[in-house]
Amino acid sequence: MVTFLENPLRVGLRQERTPEPLILVIFGASGDLTQRKLIPALYQLKRERRLPAEMTVVGVARRDWSDDYFREQMRQGIEEFSNGIGNEALWQDFAEGLYYCSGNMDDPESYQKLKALLEELDGRRGTRGNRVFYLSVSPNFFAPAIKQLGAAGMLRDPLKTRLVIEKPFGKDLSSAQTLNRVVQKVCKEEQVYRIDHYLGKETVQNLLVFRFANAIFEPLWNRQFVDHVQITVAETVGVEDRAGYYDTAGALRDMVQNHLLQLFSLTAMEPPNALNADSIRNEKVKVLQTTHLADIHNLERSAVRGQYKAGWMKGKPVRGYREEPGVNPNSTTPTFVALKLIIDNWRWQGVPFYLRTGKRMPKKVSEIAIQFRDVPLLIFQSVAHQTNPNVLSLRIQPNEGISLRFEAKMPGSELRTRTVEMDFDYGSSFGMAGADAYHRLLLDAMLGDQTLFTRADEVEEAWRVVTPALAAWDAPADPATIPQYEAGTWEPPEAELLINRDGRRWRRL
Ligand code: BG6
Repeated sequence: MVTFLENPLRVGLRQERTPEPLILVIFGASGDLTQRKLIPALYQLKRERRLPAEMTVVGVARRDWSDDYFREQMRQGIEEFSNGIGNEALWQDFAEGLYYCSGNMDDPESYQKLKALLEELDGRRGTRGNRVFYLSVSPNFFAPAIKQLGAAGMLRDPLKTRLVIEKPFGKDLSSAQTLNRVVQKVCKEEQVYRIDHYLGKETVQNLLVFRFANAIFEPLWNRQFVDHVQITVAETVGVEDRAGYYDTAGALRDMVQNHLLQLFSLTAMEPPNALNADSIRNEKVKVLQTTHLADIHNLERSAVRGQYKAGWMKGKPVRGYREEPGVNPNSTTPTFVALKLIIDNWRWQGVPFYLRTGKRMPKKVSEIAIQFRDVPLLIFQSVAHQTNPNVLSLRIQPNEGISLRFEAKMPGSELRTRTVEMDFDYGSSFGMAGADAYHRLLLDAMLGDQTLFTRADEVEEAWRVVTPALAAWDAPADPATIPQYEAGTWEPPEAELLINRDGRRWRRL
């Protein structure tokens, strides 16, 4: 019999441990992510008593801030973007561990100054030389910062130092390989934590539990029973104030290479040997290695891009992408992407995976839908107008949950069928919403658990999968040829065609 503690799924996914005393060094400390996400997540961990008493944070950025000013900014962040400060004594205790060090990412002297400060803080706060360096800077600074950290000898001890790198990790396969080489020159892979915040979402982690802690789904999870899979990540927001970055990236780089391919590989991977970082990441890499766009010779049959034009959101007019501030009026950058992926392995041969993501869609919704095959023979043909195939839908956000669609007999003397749903809802089952993804990811990086972070080979494989589409879409194009969709509507007609051609339809969510 398996006891609670012996069951690796139960113990492996979360161990209520507290990190060793350490200094978290945040590069890019004056930026949005630090104020909105990182510090509020840390403060939440503090409230939950998940941080060591010695916990120390050093913010690094170019601006000439004092420790007190940094503390004030972080306090505002917590007040504005999370549940607020609450207990004043708790905040005082947390704030005492916050320090600021101004410096330039590519200036060796700044790193010497930082190094001296960290050593001084080790003495003052008892942090024992343990460090997590978090790169929350513009991606141009990733390589310079990593090289400087290496040159200053600050990543030398693999047992005491870790490096967290925000996305995007490279802008294509070759730049990701170059960045990996920079990383590998100064530290070991065991020290590296590449962020994809989708892996911090409860519902994404639940994919593993759902697949591998239940006996009834796995036997169906293959080409014998599954007709196709649809993965959707739709957003209602437009480009917001990020045109500078977004217009050079677009949806394929910004969403597909990372978030959608993570959802994809967790859905399609084989069962891991064990629930540890390497076993899981090995399986994710294996499935990515066998994945490719359905037809790279006729790209439009496996990859479609789109751009939102002016339209309406919640009854208000909104601008088109090319009219957004900071966007090139002739931009060909996609704000929508649909892909058809094929996996060449025994489990999934002949089962297409359709992925789509877009900004300014009618709804914010992310889901993975497994559509099962039709029944082999419909004996109800004479009475039922139409029956629908079974669909298992894993709702990543919002309304987090899982539902199974099936046919049922409508009450009454006549034999009529209707499609109904069996539903699991996170909120009502557990009575609580999952924490913000950064809460989990920061804690895991501090604990030294790499499971929810992307490995070097994984990030490169993901770039490889999207390379044919990137290469084609990076080439200069006449802006008039980019498929358009009205803001507040679903995909452009070209993306409809991508799936309709196969006799299938996108789900209406
Ligand atoms: C980010 C992208 O990684 O993910 C954004 O850069 C996008 O463009 C965001 O809006 C979506 O994240 P979430 O958690 O809101 O689904």
